[in-house]
Amino acid sequence: MKILVTGGAGFVGSNLCIALQDEHEVTVLDNLSSADNKNLEGFDGNIINGDIRDSGTIAKISQPDIIFHQAAITDTTITDKGTVFSVNVEGFKTVLDYATAKGIDLVYASSAGVYGNGPVPMKEDQNAPLNVYGLSKLAMDNLAKMHWNDGIKIIGLRYFNVFGPRERYKKKAASMIYQLALRMVAGKRPKIFKYGEQMRDHIYVKDVVEANLKAMKAKQNCIVNVGTGKATSFNELIGILNEVLGKDMEPEYIDNPYQDGYQNNTQAWTENAEKVLGFKAKYSVEKGVQEYLTEIGMI
Ligand SMILES: NC(=O)c1ccc[n+]([C@@H]2O[C@H](COP(=O)([O-])OP(=O)(O)OC[C@H]3O[C@@H](n4cnc5c(N)ncnc54)[C@H](O)[C@@H]3O)[C@@H](O)[C@H]2O)c1
Repeated sequence: MKILVTGGAGFVGSNLCIALQDEHEVTVLDNLSSADNKNLEGFDGNIINGDIRDSGTIAKISQPDIIFHQAAITDTTITDKGTVFSVNVEGFKTVLDYATAKGIDLVYASSAGVYGNGPVPMKEDQNAPLNVYGLSKLAMDNLAKMHWNDGIKIIGLRYFNVFGPRERYKKKAASMIYQLALRMVAGKRPKIFKYGEQMRDHIYVKDVVEANLKAMKAKQNCIVNVGTGKATSFNELIGILNEVLGKDMEPEYIDNPYQDGYQNNTQAWTENAEKVLGFKAKYSVEKGVQEYLTEIGMI
């Protein structure tokens, strides 16, 4: 199949491209705003340096059979609505309009950010975004639903907290697992917000790739969670990192500067993804961290 991956030089996108390239003809569209082409070492498909908001650039790409839309502003601390909506919502609309006009199936990345501090486990019919990023992902989901009767398949995947190889170019937006491991390997105490009881559903990037591959074969339009269904507190996470890295470091607790827009707990309800996509995460956080830190040479 011919496949277009927007944001294909990014963290999730590059992992997806590498997984797809053996069996498919893959093209990447990315403006490298939060990524580096080094993520695509070993990728032998076509790479187009361009912006998803530019319909002229998209129209020039050889028409794909399916689009995996990963491109977005992914820094959840950006508060300027115009900036975030321009890429995440207007950019998505450009891709969606193109897909609808040409009859191309579309799988896109939504986010657990749409749930804010709603009850856990978070179900797909909930929404209470707390920040501009979460609002933009909810707006994408609403746009997608408006096109559900347009004759193409549209699948939204609400990723929870993804970690794994090729995330380093996200810098401060990279996962907490990466940030904490970096400090600990450098002999510095891991810093977390007071008092480390906040919970996250951490999902390994290989599972996220798998969810996308399942979405490719899905029969019906849907928006589903892509999480493990299990939440880990930051205190527990530091225990896991100590174990895997062979350290014994105490966390340093700091004030949380993002009080208002901060999600305290995330945990996915996973039954819909299982039922509709046949997707179930295979990696526990312990197994993912062990494999990840080994792969990037931290252990
Ligand atoms: N990583 C996570 O934990 C997580 C969680 C929930 C949702 N998501 C979503 O998954 C998708 C992939 O995220 P990621 O973690 O790989 O982040 P990333 O920042 O590594 O990837 C985003 C990519 O989009 C590209 N991009 C940004 N604006 C663009 C534009 N205007 N035109 C073309 N390319 C553009 C960036 O250069 C980057 O390569 C995003 O949609 C993100 O919102 C990620």
